[in-house]
Amino acid sequence: MKRVTLIKGDGIGPEITDSVMKIINAAGVAIDWDIQTAGADLIETEGTPLPQRVLDSVKQNKIALKSPVTTPIGKGFRSVNVQLRKELDLYANLRPCYNLPNVKTRYDKVDIVVVRENTEDLYAGIERQVDENTAESIKIITRKASERIAKFAFDYAVKNNRKEVCVVTKANICKLSDGLFLECARKIAQQYPQIKFREILVDNCCMQLVQNPNQFDVLLLPNLYGDIVSDLCAGLIGGLGIAQGANIGENYAVFEPVHGSAPDIAGQDKANPTAMLMSAIEMLNYIGENEAGRRIRLALFDTLDAGIKTVDLGGNASCTEFTQAIVDRLVVLEK
Ligand code: NAI
Repeated sequence: MKRVTLIKGDGIGPEITDSVMKIINAAGVAIDWDIQTAGADLIETEGTPLPQRVLDSVKQNKIALKSPVTTPIGKGFRSVNVQLRKELDLYANLRPCYNLPNVKTRYDKVDIVVVRENTEDLYAGIERQVDENTAESIKIITRKASERIAKFAFDYAVKNNRKEVCVVTKANICKLSDGLFLECARKIAQQYPQIKFREILVDNCCMQLVQNPNQFDVLLLPNLYGDIVSDLCAGLIGGLGIAQGANIGENYAVFEPVHGSAPDIAGQDKANPTAMLMSAIEMLNYIGENEAGRRIRLALFDTLDAGIKTVDLGGNASCTEFTQAIVDRLVVLEK
Protein backbone atom coordinates (compact mmCIF):
# COMPACT_ATOMS: atom_id res chain seq x y z
CA MET A 1 0.00 0.00 0.00
CA LYS A 2 1.36 3.44 -0.96
CA ARG A 3 2.27 5.66 2.00
CA VAL A 4 1.55 9.37 1.42
CA THR A 5 2.19 12.28 3.78
CA LEU A 6 -0.95 14.27 4.46
CA ILE A 7 -0.55 17.79 5.84
CA LYS A 8 -3.90 18.93 7.17
CA GLY A 9 -3.11 22.65 7.49
CA ASP A 10 -5.40 25.12 9.22
CA GLY A 11 -8.32 27.45 8.42
CA ILE A 12 -10.42 25.52 5.88
CA GLY A 13 -7.58 22.97 5.60
CA PRO A 14 -9.06 20.29 7.89
CA GLU A 15 -12.54 20.56 6.25
CA ILE A 16 -11.30 20.14 2.68
CA THR A 17 -8.82 17.44 3.72
CA ASP A 18 -11.56 15.37 5.36
CA SER A 19 -13.70 15.80 2.25
CA VAL A 20 -10.93 14.62 -0.07
CA MET A 21 -10.01 11.64 2.12
CA LYS A 22 -13.65 10.58 2.16
CA ILE A 23 -13.82 10.76 -1.65
CA ILE A 24 -10.53 8.89 -2.16
CA ASN A 25 -11.73 6.18 0.22
CA ALA A 26 -15.00 5.90 -1.66
CA ALA A 27 -13.03 5.45 -4.89
CA GLY A 28 -11.49 2.37 -3.30
CA VAL A 29 -7.88 3.56 -3.32
CA ALA A 30 -5.95 2.15 -0.40
CA ILE A 31 -3.52 4.77 0.83
CA ASP A 32 -1.58 4.58 4.07
CA TRP A 33 -1.87 8.25 5.11
CA ASP A 34 0.98 9.57 7.24
CA ILE A 35 -0.93 12.43 8.84
CA GLN A 36 1.19 15.45 9.80
CA THR A 37 0.37 18.83 11.26
CA ALA A 38 2.05 22.17 10.59
CA GLY A 39 1.29 25.80 11.32
CA ALA A 40 1.00 28.42 14.05
CA ASP A 41 -0.59 26.08 16.62
CA LEU A 42 2.63 24.10 16.90
CA ILE A 43 4.83 27.00 17.95
CA GLU A 44 3.82 26.61 21.57
CA THR A 45 4.20 22.84 21.72
CA GLU A 46 7.04 22.16 19.27
CA GLY A 47 8.74 25.56 19.01
CA THR A 48 8.28 25.84 15.24
CA PRO A 49 5.39 25.94 12.72
CA LEU A 50 7.26 23.44 10.52
CA PRO A 51 8.71 20.64 12.69
CA GLN A 52 11.49 18.49 11.25
CA ARG A 53 9.16 15.45 11.49
CA VAL A 54 7.02 16.93 8.66
CA LEU A 55 10.04 17.30 6.38
CA ASP A 56 11.28 13.83 7.34
CA SER A 57 7.89 12.35 6.56
CA VAL A 58 7.83 13.85 3.04
CA LYS A 59 11.46 12.81 2.52
CA GLN A 60 10.60 9.26 3.49
CA ASN A 61 7.34 8.95 1.54
CA LYS A 62 8.51 11.16 -1.35
CA ILE A 63 4.98 12.38 -1.92
CA ALA A 64 2.53 14.54 -0.01
CA LEU A 65 -0.93 16.00 -0.24
CA LYS A 66 -1.12 19.30 1.55
CA SER A 67 -3.85 21.72 2.46
CA PRO A 68 -3.20 25.40 3.18
CA VAL A 69 -1.36 26.79 6.16
CA THR A 70 -1.89 30.37 7.40
CA THR A 71 1.04 32.78 7.33
CA PRO A 72 0.87 35.87 9.55
CA ILE A 73 0.75 39.08 7.49
CA GLY A 74 3.39 41.79 8.02
CA LYS A 75 4.87 40.04 11.06
CA GLY A 76 5.54 36.64 12.63
CA PHE A 77 7.10 33.44 11.30
CA ARG A 78 8.26 32.72 7.76
CA SER A 79 5.68 30.97 5.57
CA VAL A 80 5.55 27.21 6.20
CA ASN A 81 4.66 26.78 2.53
CA VAL A 82 7.70 28.69 1.30
CA GLN A 83 9.98 26.86 3.77
CA LEU A 84 8.66 23.46 2.74
CA ARG A 85 9.21 24.21 -0.95
CA LYS A 86 12.72 25.49 -0.25
CA GLU A 87 13.77 22.68 2.13
CA LEU A 88 12.59 19.95 -0.25
CA ASP A 89 13.81 21.84 -3.33
CA LEU A 90 10.36 21.66 -4.91
CA TYR A 91 11.48 23.99 -7.65
CA ALA A 92 8.49 23.82 -9.98
CA ASN A 93 5.04 25.03 -9.05
CA LEU A 94 2.61 23.68 -11.62
CA ARG A 95 -0.85 25.21 -11.79
CA PRO A 96 -3.08 24.05 -14.65
CA CYS A 97 -6.10 26.27 -15.07
CA TYR A 98 -9.09 25.31 -17.21
CA ASN A 99 -12.87 25.67 -17.26
CA LEU A 100 -14.92 23.12 -15.33
CA PRO A 101 -18.41 21.96 -16.38
CA ASN A 102 -21.31 24.17 -15.39
CA VAL A 103 -19.11 26.79 -13.74
CA LYS A 104 -20.13 30.14 -15.14
CA THR A 105 -17.18 32.30 -16.23
CA ARG A 106 -16.56 35.24 -18.52
CA TYR A 107 -14.58 33.11 -21.00
CA ASP A 108 -14.96 29.58 -22.36
CA LYS A 109 -12.13 27.24 -23.31
CA VAL A 110 -9.56 28.75 -20.98
CA ASP A 111 -6.70 26.26 -20.82
CA ILE A 112 -3.58 27.79 -19.34
CA VAL A 113 -0.76 26.12 -17.43
CA VAL A 114 1.16 28.34 -15.04
CA VAL A 115 4.73 27.19 -14.37
CA ARG A 116 6.13 29.19 -11.48
CA GLU A 117 9.70 29.09 -10.18
CA ASN A 118 9.30 28.05 -6.56
CA THR A 119 12.55 28.53 -4.65
CA GLU A 120 13.91 32.04 -5.04
CA ASP A 121 13.05 35.59 -6.20
CA LEU A 122 11.65 37.82 -3.41
CA TYR A 123 10.55 34.64 -1.58
CA ALA A 124 14.16 34.00 -0.53
CA GLY A 125 13.06 35.97 2.54
CA ILE A 126 16.12 38.21 2.65
CA GLU A 127 14.81 41.45 4.11
CA ARG A 128 16.11 44.06 6.48
CA GLN A 129 14.93 47.17 8.22
CA VAL A 130 17.45 49.77 7.08
CA ASP A 131 16.12 52.37 9.49
CA GLU A 132 12.79 53.26 10.98
CA ASN A 133 11.47 54.57 7.66
CA THR A 134 13.12 52.23 5.20
CA ALA A 135 12.95 48.49 4.58
CA GLU A 136 14.50 46.46 1.81
CA SER A 137 13.93 43.01 0.29
CA ILE A 138 16.41 41.28 -1.95
CA LYS A 139 15.29 39.59 -5.15
CA ILE A 140 17.47 36.60 -5.95
CA ILE A 141 17.48 35.12 -9.44
CA THR A 142 20.09 32.49 -10.33
CA ARG A 143 21.03 30.94 -13.65
CA LYS A 144 20.70 27.43 -12.19
CA ALA A 145 17.12 27.88 -10.95
CA SER A 146 16.04 29.84 -14.02
CA GLU A 147 17.38 27.29 -16.49
CA ARG A 148 15.87 24.32 -14.67
CA ILE A 149 12.40 25.88 -14.41
CA ALA A 150 12.55 26.87 -18.09
CA LYS A 151 13.52 23.29 -18.93
CA PHE A 152 10.63 22.03 -16.77
CA ALA A 153 8.16 24.26 -18.66
CA PHE A 154 9.38 23.12 -22.08
CA ASP A 155 9.49 19.44 -21.07
CA TYR A 156 5.95 19.80 -19.73
CA ALA A 157 4.89 21.41 -23.02
CA VAL A 158 6.37 18.55 -25.06
CA LYS A 159 4.92 15.79 -22.85
CA ASN A 160 1.46 17.36 -22.74
CA ASN A 161 1.18 18.30 -26.38
CA ARG A 162 1.28 22.05 -25.75
CA LYS A 163 2.13 24.48 -28.52
CA GLU A 164 3.70 27.50 -26.84
CA VAL A 165 5.68 28.61 -23.79
CA CYS A 166 5.42 32.30 -22.95
CA VAL A 167 7.99 33.72 -20.52
CA VAL A 168 6.67 36.52 -18.31
CA THR A 169 9.06 39.06 -16.75
CA LYS A 170 9.61 42.71 -15.96
CA ALA A 171 13.03 42.70 -17.61
CA ASN A 172 12.58 46.26 -18.85
CA ILE A 173 12.85 47.43 -15.21
CA CYS A 174 14.60 44.60 -13.34
CA LYS A 175 17.21 44.40 -16.08
CA LEU A 176 19.65 42.18 -14.21
CA SER A 177 17.40 39.80 -12.24
CA ASP A 178 14.45 39.37 -14.61
CA GLY A 179 16.94 39.93 -17.43
CA LEU A 180 18.76 36.77 -16.32
CA PHE A 181 15.49 34.78 -16.05
CA LEU A 182 14.61 35.87 -19.60
CA GLU A 183 18.08 35.10 -20.96
CA CYS A 184 17.86 31.57 -19.50
CA ALA A 185 14.39 31.01 -20.98
CA ARG A 186 15.64 32.16 -24.39
CA LYS A 187 18.60 29.77 -24.19
CA ILE A 188 16.47 26.75 -23.18
CA ALA A 189 13.85 27.62 -25.83
CA GLN A 190 16.45 26.98 -28.53
CA GLN A 191 16.60 23.33 -27.46
CA TYR A 192 12.87 22.92 -28.19
CA PRO A 193 12.32 24.13 -31.79
CA GLN A 194 8.97 22.27 -31.89
CA ILE A 195 7.51 24.57 -29.17
CA LYS A 196 6.72 28.19 -30.00
CA PHE A 197 8.44 30.66 -27.68
CA ARG A 198 7.01 34.02 -26.74
CA GLU A 199 8.05 36.84 -24.38
CA ILE A 200 5.76 39.28 -22.58
CA LEU A 201 6.07 41.85 -19.79
CA VAL A 202 4.04 40.97 -16.69
CA ASP A 203 1.85 44.10 -16.68
CA ASN A 204 0.82 43.58 -20.30
CA CYS A 205 0.35 39.87 -19.59
CA CYS A 206 -2.21 40.66 -16.86
CA MET A 207 -4.16 42.94 -19.16
CA GLN A 208 -4.06 40.39 -22.01
CA LEU A 209 -5.17 37.60 -19.66
CA VAL A 210 -8.22 39.58 -18.61
CA GLN A 211 -9.10 40.60 -22.18
CA ASN A 212 -8.22 37.50 -24.16
CA PRO A 213 -7.04 34.53 -22.07
CA ASN A 214 -7.44 32.03 -24.92
CA GLN A 215 -4.26 33.30 -26.56
CA PHE A 216 -2.13 31.75 -23.77
CA ASP A 217 -0.91 28.19 -23.42
CA VAL A 218 1.99 27.58 -20.96
CA LEU A 219 3.17 30.58 -18.91
CA LEU A 220 6.68 30.53 -17.39
CA LEU A 221 7.23 32.97 -14.54
CA PRO A 222 9.60 33.81 -11.68
CA ASN A 223 8.19 33.19 -8.21
CA LEU A 224 6.37 36.43 -7.33
CA TYR A 225 4.73 37.05 -10.72
CA GLY A 226 3.81 33.36 -10.83
CA ASP A 227 2.06 33.62 -7.47
CA ILE A 228 0.05 36.67 -8.51
CA VAL A 229 -0.72 35.62 -12.08
CA SER A 230 -1.91 32.16 -10.99
CA ASP A 231 -4.56 33.76 -8.75
CA LEU A 232 -5.58 35.91 -11.72
CA CYS A 233 -5.88 32.75 -13.82
CA ALA A 234 -7.94 31.11 -11.04
CA GLY A 235 -10.30 34.09 -11.29
CA LEU A 236 -10.74 33.39 -15.01
CA ILE A 237 -12.10 29.90 -14.39
CA GLY A 238 -14.38 30.54 -11.43
CA GLY A 239 -12.14 31.29 -8.47
CA LEU A 240 -9.69 29.85 -6.01
CA GLY A 241 -12.11 27.13 -4.90
CA ILE A 242 -11.33 25.17 -8.07
CA ALA A 243 -7.68 26.00 -8.78
CA GLN A 244 -5.36 23.01 -8.38
CA GLY A 245 -1.60 22.93 -7.96
CA ALA A 246 1.52 20.85 -7.42
CA ASN A 247 5.06 21.50 -6.22
CA ILE A 248 7.52 19.24 -7.99
CA GLY A 249 11.23 18.64 -7.42
CA GLU A 250 13.82 16.08 -8.48
CA ASN A 251 13.03 13.82 -5.51
CA TYR A 252 9.69 14.84 -3.99
CA ALA A 253 6.26 16.11 -4.99
CA VAL A 254 3.77 17.99 -2.82
CA PHE A 255 0.28 18.45 -4.25
CA GLU A 256 -1.76 21.37 -2.90
CA PRO A 257 -4.46 23.78 -4.04
CA VAL A 258 -3.53 27.31 -5.15
CA HIS A 259 -5.67 28.92 -2.47
CA GLY A 260 -4.84 29.78 1.13
CA SER A 261 -6.52 28.93 4.43
CA ALA A 262 -9.56 31.20 3.74
CA PRO A 263 -9.99 32.33 7.38
CA ASP A 264 -13.13 34.27 6.37
CA ILE A 265 -15.08 31.01 5.81
CA ALA A 266 -13.17 28.56 8.03
CA GLY A 267 -15.25 26.27 10.24
CA GLN A 268 -18.52 27.15 8.47
CA ASP A 269 -18.78 24.12 6.15
CA LYS A 270 -18.73 26.52 3.18
CA ALA A 271 -15.35 25.67 1.65
CA ASN A 272 -15.18 24.27 -1.84
CA PRO A 273 -13.00 21.11 -1.72
CA THR A 274 -12.63 20.99 -5.54
CA ALA A 275 -9.18 22.62 -5.73
CA MET A 276 -7.86 20.19 -3.13
CA LEU A 277 -9.63 17.28 -4.85
CA MET A 278 -8.20 18.14 -8.26
CA SER A 279 -4.74 18.41 -6.68
CA ALA A 280 -5.35 14.97 -5.14
CA ILE A 281 -6.37 13.56 -8.54
CA GLU A 282 -2.99 14.69 -9.90
CA MET A 283 -1.37 13.03 -6.89
CA LEU A 284 -3.22 9.79 -7.69
CA ASN A 285 -2.05 9.98 -11.31
CA TYR A 286 1.49 10.54 -10.04
CA ILE A 287 1.42 7.33 -7.98
CA GLY A 288 -0.11 5.31 -10.80
CA GLU A 289 -3.72 5.29 -9.54
CA ASN A 290 -4.92 6.81 -12.83
CA GLU A 291 -8.13 4.77 -12.99
CA ALA A 292 -9.27 5.99 -9.57
CA GLY A 293 -8.27 9.53 -10.57
CA ARG A 294 -10.36 9.22 -13.72
CA ARG A 295 -13.43 8.02 -11.80
CA ILE A 296 -13.13 10.77 -9.18
CA ARG A 297 -12.89 13.39 -11.94
CA LEU A 298 -15.98 11.92 -13.61
CA ALA A 299 -17.92 11.99 -10.34
CA LEU A 300 -16.80 15.57 -9.64
CA PHE A 301 -17.73 16.81 -13.11
CA ASP A 302 -21.07 15.00 -12.96
CA THR A 303 -21.83 16.63 -9.59
CA LEU A 304 -21.10 20.10 -11.01
CA ASP A 305 -23.11 19.27 -14.14
CA ALA A 306 -26.07 18.39 -11.92
CA GLY A 307 -25.92 21.93 -10.50
CA ILE A 308 -24.65 20.83 -7.09
CA LYS A 309 -22.18 23.57 -6.25
CA THR A 310 -20.70 25.32 -3.23
CA VAL A 311 -21.44 28.97 -2.43
CA ASP A 312 -18.28 30.34 -4.13
CA LEU A 313 -19.58 28.93 -7.44
CA GLY A 314 -23.06 30.37 -6.97
CA GLY A 315 -24.58 27.22 -5.49
CA ASN A 316 -25.94 26.47 -2.04
CA ALA A 317 -24.36 23.12 -1.18
CA SER A 318 -22.24 22.90 1.95
CA CYS A 319 -18.82 21.27 1.78
CA THR A 320 -20.36 18.18 3.39
CA GLU A 321 -23.26 18.00 0.90
CA PHE A 322 -21.00 18.55 -2.08
CA THR A 323 -18.64 15.82 -0.84
CA GLN A 324 -21.53 13.40 -0.30
CA ALA A 325 -22.84 14.07 -3.83
CA ILE A 326 -19.44 13.07 -5.26
CA VAL A 327 -19.27 9.98 -3.04
CA ASP A 328 -22.79 8.92 -4.15
CA ARG A 329 -21.78 9.18 -7.79
CA LEU A 330 -18.60 7.19 -7.17
CA VAL A 331 -20.65 4.41 -5.65
CA VAL A 332 -22.85 4.32 -8.78
CA LEU A 333 -19.79 4.39 -11.08
CA GLU A 334 -18.39 1.46 -9.11
CA LYS A 335 -21.41 -0.74 -9.90
P1 NAI B 1 -7.18 32.69 0.40
O1 NAI B 1 -6.82 31.94 -0.83
O2 NAI B 1 -7.15 31.94 1.67
O3 NAI B 1 -8.66 33.34 0.23
C1 NAI B 1 -8.95 34.29 -0.76
C2 NAI B 1 -10.47 34.30 -1.00
O4 NAI B 1 -10.85 33.12 -1.69
C3 NAI B 1 -11.28 34.32 0.30
O5 NAI B 1 -12.41 35.11 0.10
C4 NAI B 1 -11.66 32.87 0.50
O6 NAI B 1 -12.87 32.68 1.22
C5 NAI B 1 -11.79 32.37 -0.94
N1 NAI B 1 -11.43 30.94 -1.02
C6 NAI B 1 -10.20 30.41 -0.98
N2 NAI B 1 -10.25 29.09 -1.06
C7 NAI B 1 -11.55 28.75 -1.11
C8 NAI B 1 -12.26 27.51 -1.19
N3 NAI B 1 -11.61 26.34 -1.21
N4 NAI B 1 -13.61 27.55 -1.22
C9 NAI B 1 -14.27 28.71 -1.20
N5 NAI B 1 -13.67 29.91 -1.14
C10 NAI B 1 -12.32 29.93 -1.10
O7 NAI B 1 -6.19 33.94 0.45
P2 NAI B 1 -5.90 34.97 1.63
O8 NAI B 1 -7.15 35.32 2.35
O9 NAI B 1 -5.12 36.02 0.97
O10 NAI B 1 -4.92 34.19 2.61
C11 NAI B 1 -5.32 33.57 3.82
C12 NAI B 1 -4.13 32.87 4.43
O11 NAI B 1 -3.71 31.77 3.62
C13 NAI B 1 -2.88 33.76 4.60
O12 NAI B 1 -2.32 33.49 5.86
C14 NAI B 1 -1.95 33.30 3.51
O13 NAI B 1 -0.60 33.49 3.82
C15 NAI B 1 -2.30 31.83 3.44
N6 NAI B 1 -1.98 31.18 2.15
C16 NAI B 1 -1.52 29.91 2.21
C17 NAI B 1 -1.25 29.24 1.05
C18 NAI B 1 -0.77 27.82 1.15
O14 NAI B 1 -0.86 27.22 2.20
N7 NAI B 1 -0.26 27.24 0.07
C19 NAI B 1 -1.44 29.86 -0.28
C20 NAI B 1 -1.99 31.18 -0.22
C21 NAI B 1 -2.24 31.81 0.97
